[in-house]
Amino acid sequence: MRNYRYTRQGYLSVLALHPYLFSTDIPWVPTRKELLPHIMRLARIRDGAVFYDLGCGDGRVVIEAALHGAQGVCVEIKRELIEEAKRRARKAGVYERIVFVNDDFFNIDISDADIVYMYLLTKANRLLRPKLEAQLKIGARVITLDFEIPGWKPIHVEKHYVNGFNRSLYLYVKGVSDLI
Ligand SMILES: C[S@@+](CC[C@H](N)C(=O)[O-])C[C@H]1O[C@@H](n2cnc3c(N)ncnc32)[C@H](O)[C@@H]1O
Repeated sequence: MRNYRYTRQGYLSVLALHPYLFSTDIPWVPTRKELLPHIMRLARIRDGAVFYDLGCGDGRVVIEAALHGAQGVCVEIKRELIEEAKRRARKAGVYERIVFVNDDFFNIDISDADIVYMYLLTKANRLLRPKLEAQLKIGARVITLDFEIPGWKPIHVEKHYVNGFNRSLYLYVKGVSDLI
């Protein structure tokens, strides 16, 4: 009986904590434009490669990827940002090359991705890791800005001093980084 009460209480506390455990609560902070050439170089986009930005904000990274020949997928939870991303893509002439998804990135299938870009937080990267492991194909490249994927080993890290701040780009490859 005592054990049962303990278990039930524990279960209820986990339920109460749910929003804190699983909410990613990531603000919109756009990638600085100075980093775009470096991200594109690390992405090694081949014509028609499928490039996801999970939490794409105003779409600037996925638009740049589309300008480099990618088929972009811009996934953003905030409606006003996805509308801004569409507006910017039209202006850049790559609207037709990008799929805009106004949804939570935990809900979408990313199994066709060749490249995934994530400028999120360590906590979100940790929560996304099982999804990356389950859905990405071997050889898919994952690039993160400033926050690592806990438990994965980057194959390359580079630092850039931009506008008074040191920024870090991490490059991971599925089938290598996740097996270490
Ligand atoms: C740091 S910003 C990066 C924006 C863009 N990737 C860039 O680099 O310019 C993170 C973005 O992720 C979005 N976001 C946060 N949680 C999300 C979720 N669960 N699903 C989809 N988008 C999310 C935020 O609204 C925000 O626009």
